[in-house]
Amino acid sequence: MEWVQNKHRVARFVRELARHRARPDDVYISSYPRSGTTWLQLLVHLVRGGELTFEHIAEVVPWFERPLALGRTTAAQYARMTGPRTFKSHLPYAWLPRGGRYVYVHRDGRDVAVSYYHFYRSHLGFQGSFEAFYALFLQGALQHGSWFRHVSDWRRRADQANVCVLSYEALQRDPEPALHALALLCQVTLSPPRVRTILDCSSFAAMKRLEDKFDHARAETSSRVASGAFVRSGRVGEHVEVLSEPQQRSFELTMRTHGTRRLPELRLSPFLR
Ligand code: A3P
Repeated sequence: MEWVQNKHRVARFVRELARHRARPDDVYISSYPRSGTTWLQLLVHLVRGGELTFEHIAEVVPWFERPLALGRTTAAQYARMTGPRTFKSHLPYAWLPRGGRYVYVHRDGRDVAVSYYHFYRSHLGFQGSFEAFYALFLQGALQHGSWFRHVSDWRRRADQANVCVLSYEALQRDPEPALHALALLCQVTLSPPRVRTILDCSSFAAMKRLEDKFDHARAETSSRVASGAFVRSGRVGEHVEVLSEPQQRSFELTMRTHGTRRLPELRLSPFLR
């Protein structure tokens, strides 16, 4: 039954995608889940002059594919959006509309696996062990497929003029260069006080305090999820405490089979330099 439903969703999405017209100032933020997508949604929104007045981030930076696939919105409704549009997505480049600008955020896959495991438990009812979950992660059998393929697909686009690739780890170390890269991509100028405001509003502590504005389960009134599960721990390298040595080795091996080399940390579009 689920595959029938899925087939309908895919068909609905493909139909609406064909009707959707990207604008040159559209920004599509993509990522493999749990890589810092929501953080980027907020950063791009603030860089483009937005404020924290929304009840939920999806009001100002909608998830591109999900409401289309579920029939909750249409390309015609997207066409009625005024001002520069920013969308969040988890799609590979090939499935996004052409003609906009793109931001891809990636994170160490082992930390993604740990974060996604917690998310599967808190939000998706997964009851298995980390070991079982990790096997699915390596096989690419989770909701959004293979992390390895996702990252290597986007990595191939990193040199394109309209693609900005950022890493979660670099953002954690120092978010300011990323802010300037985003400002260039969005063609806006940020004053030093505005930079400080954006950094304050988008810090981990600030986002955790306002978690209800970011957890997409909260945008759907039917879901009740414990607080602290979405903007969870925000650590770099948590996998060191979680993955066993054989699990670390399997990661390296899968990485090699997929030919994924280290990603560039920050790539700027040549035409924006
Ligand atoms: P953890 O589960 O490791 O804490 P996504 O938005 O793609 O689902 O990513 C969620 C991950 O980003 C979570 O990781 C979350 O805590 C982290 N995150 C969200 N906002 C953050 C911020 N401002 N700074 C650092 N990490 C953040």
